[in-house]
Amino acid sequence: MKDFKSIKVTKGVKTLEIDNPTNYPLIGMGAQGAVFKLSEDKFVKIYTDPLQVRMEAEALRFVKIYGKPEHAAQENKVLLSSQKLSFIPKVDETGSNYVLMENLLGPDLNTFLKKHPALSEDITRRLLDILTTMKKSGFKQIDAPVRHIILTNTGFKMVDHVYSFSRVQERPLELFQNLHERNFLNSFLEQVKTIDPKTHAEWTKTPIPLTNAEAEANGGSNRKKESRKRTSNRKREHNRKKGSHRKHEHHHKKGHDRKK
Ligand SMILES: Nc1ncnc2c1ncn2[C@@H]1O[C@H](COP(=O)(O)OP(=O)(O)O)[C@@H](O)[C@H]1O
Ligand SMILES: [Mg+2]
Repeated sequence: MKDFKSIKVTKGVKTLEIDNPTNYPLIGMGAQGAVFKLSEDKFVKIYTDPLQVRMEAEALRFVKIYGKPEHAAQENKVLLSSQKLSFIPKVDETGSNYVLMENLLGPDLNTFLKKHPALSEDITRRLLDILTTMKKSGFKQIDAPVRHIILTNTGFKMVDHVYSFSRVQERPLELFQNLHERNFLNSFLEQVKTIDPKTHAEWTKTPIPLTNAEAEANGGSNRKKESRKRTSNRKREHNRKKGSHRKHEHHHKKGHDRKK
């Protein structure tokens, strides 16, 4: 990648003029620049206008804007201290009310599961890996709601870490409920039992609460039942909790509107 800086693309009279001393194959030219192929999976787009670089780079990033600075601080702390964990999105920049991070492309696990009749062992392993890594790394809230897991081509990623270091929750109760709703909980637990009997034993030592009321009584999970239709009920629920940090407070720059 080292010498692509020497490629110059300028606006000619009718088309772009390319001065390409490096001989990378030219793949195409568009309105703002030319794309060269560096290797099988690496391409570079050279812009005529430096401003465009910033615009396009931003389109590939995801910005989360917070209404409450304490939520930004809490989540930024988790993200920045956990950059080496493979499921944590890569962060470029943080501020007192925002975080700029990689834009994760791919369906979330909820969307993915809706389209699949069975829960594969591969998915179970990947979830288990995230959850056990969280525990080993000192995360306090051990959970992986399906809407926060994004299946990218570089693996499973998890978003929304506002409470990862502050809310104590030892079992992935929301994940259990999400899987239960899709009738996958039994196969998930069976698979966990085979792959990691110790974790299975810890998770099933006491009964798993499967309804909101049960979960509340268990001191866990359902603060975030966002996917429910019972909105009014949910709002009441939600407002009772200390500070909502979601929805109205953020603005996802690139504008794709994933369901929360
Ligand atoms: N880095 C990202 N790339 C792509 N989509 C993201 C990213 N971070 C979050 N999202 C999407 O935006 C939604 C809201 O983000 P989240 O962090 O869960 O906000 P909140 O704290 O308000 O719940 C997520 O459920 C997910 O669908
Ligand atoms: Mg969220």
